[in-house]
Amino acid sequence: MTAAIRIEDLTKNFGSTAAVRGVSLEVPAGRVLGLLGPNGAGKTTLVRMVSTLIRPDGGRILVHGHDVVREAARVRPLIGLTGQYASVDEDISGWENLYLIARLFNLRGRRARARADEMLERFSLTEAGKRPVGGYSGGMRRRLDLAASLTGDPRVLVLDEPTTGLDPHSRNSLWAEVNRLAEQGTTVLLTTQYMEEAEALADSLVVIDSGRVIAAGSTAELRSRLGGQTLHIRPEHPGDLPRVHQVLMAAGHTAATVVADEGHLRLPLTGGGGQLTAVVRALGEADVPLGALHTHIPSLDEVFLKLTGPAAGAPVAARSAA
Ligand SMILES: Nc1ncnc2c1ncn2[C@@H]1O[C@H](COP(=O)(O)OP(=O)(O)OP(=O)(O)O)[C@@H](O)[C@H]1O
Ligand SMILES: [Mg+2]
Repeated sequence: MTAAIRIEDLTKNFGSTAAVRGVSLEVPAGRVLGLLGPNGAGKTTLVRMVSTLIRPDGGRILVHGHDVVREAARVRPLIGLTGQYASVDEDISGWENLYLIARLFNLRGRRARARADEMLERFSLTEAGKRPVGGYSGGMRRRLDLAASLTGDPRVLVLDEPTTGLDPHSRNSLWAEVNRLAEQGTTVLLTTQYMEEAEALADSLVVIDSGRVIAAGSTAELRSRLGGQTLHIRPEHPGDLPRVHQVLMAAGHTAATVVADEGHLRLPLTGGGGQLTAVVRALGEADVPLGALHTHIPSLDEVFLKLTGPAAGAPVAARSAA
């Protein structure tokens, strides 16, 4: 099966700024790929190349087998793009925007009007559709944007930070719409700065930073790469830290480390539920008074910050190259 989107060793420079530096990735047809990265990572540059709006300097992009540079005219009808900034005309109504787009897709007369009506209805904009877009709220604009990019019934939907600036309610309804499209078989390439959004929508993730891929996989894989669950053990008396450490080592939990300034020990939990029970039993038998015991799972934000933060550096980049 050919991939819906195939990107090979893609590069793009703006003067001396290397915005995209050798990115390769693939989105299978009917799947959702989340492209994650901090400000300036190169997300918009990448999706603009996929959408034929700017040309790559090196490498290539195939959309359903068609090269975005050499066969741009064949690629464009396959793609719907919702840009990072609203691309609809403010001076005319929502309905008129959608009608014009339907006309661009060669629908005529009654069919173009019906399409505009249908898209407004689907995005709960029927009432607002009569008013000029200039008076819409941010959430209404975002919905109109998405409606506009779906008017041509694209096989591949490209969304650049679709929910930035939306309230939780608008965000959830947009997520629901994207999930519905994905279920119906639309391929989606979505950029975001939010791990939570990526987890809610995407089958797999590619994290980019400074124009390079620094990690790829499912959210679960990215989480586990950072070590997964850790057990924090706090003896009631900090003086017992060395003793607890001894007890754990003797019971075979050799990965335990003492974090003296936090007054606890950390033990990566890799052995399933049985390991936790064994730890509690060993400590019980040793009769050390415990102050607290809790498991810590890295939050999605921690995962994102660890991957892209200033301390991320070379080791992560080296791992992704494999
Ligand atoms: N038209 C342009 N001219 C010059 N530099 C550009 C241009 N477009 C992007 N850049 C630069 O390329 C780099 C990547 O920008 P890009 O907009 O792709 O990042 P992004 O990941 O979309 O960021 P954000 O999350 O802020 O939207 C940045 O350093 C940016 O300043
Ligand atoms: Mg951007």
